[in-house]
Amino acid sequence: MLITRHLYLTGFRGTGKTSVAARLAAAWAAPSIDLDEVIEKKAEKSIREIFAEGGESLFRDLESAALVEVAAGRASIISLGGGAILRAENREVLASTGVRVWLDATADEICGRVLADASTADRRPALTALSQREEIERLLADRHDLYESSADFRVDTTGKSIDQVAAEVMKAV
Ligand code: S3P
Repeated sequence: MLITRHLYLTGFRGTGKTSVAARLAAAWAAPSIDLDEVIEKKAEKSIREIFAEGGESLFRDLESAALVEVAAGRASIISLGGGAILRAENREVLASTGVRVWLDATADEICGRVLADASTADRRPALTALSQREEIERLLADRHDLYESSADFRVDTTGKSIDQVAAEVMKAV
């Protein structure tokens, strides 16, 4: 299938955005882009290092710049960091340049996946002083309405495999 607009995958960490993007890209013979990887390549630093040097605000600035850049490129499947919908300017870019699919899951499922993921410490610095479980619950509650209002489609990933989620996304869009 030839895709003519970007397909953006939004949602909290641990909802499978990157893996689902790769699966969709293979199915559609389209490029897939992980926005966090673009940020790291451009900065020549890991996300953890960016947070350590300039805090969340520096990371969000780099994230917005990277989003503008990929949005201007060839139609792709783009997995976004969990906080990419926080800034209004980013939400405008997403709404005007592609179809937005929100991968959702219950807090229990997300906690299980995030705590089981060995790369979590490198890729996902703590955003608050709370315990990981409390941070997930707090951020999920804080962001819920933004995820909802920033999406054309919602796919619940709870208890589903990457293949199942990819199939549901393909059906939805
Ligand atoms: C973040 C999620 C991360 C990464 C950064 C901030 C967030 O991306 O962008 O650590 O604010 O939820 P993933 O959702 O791909 O883990």
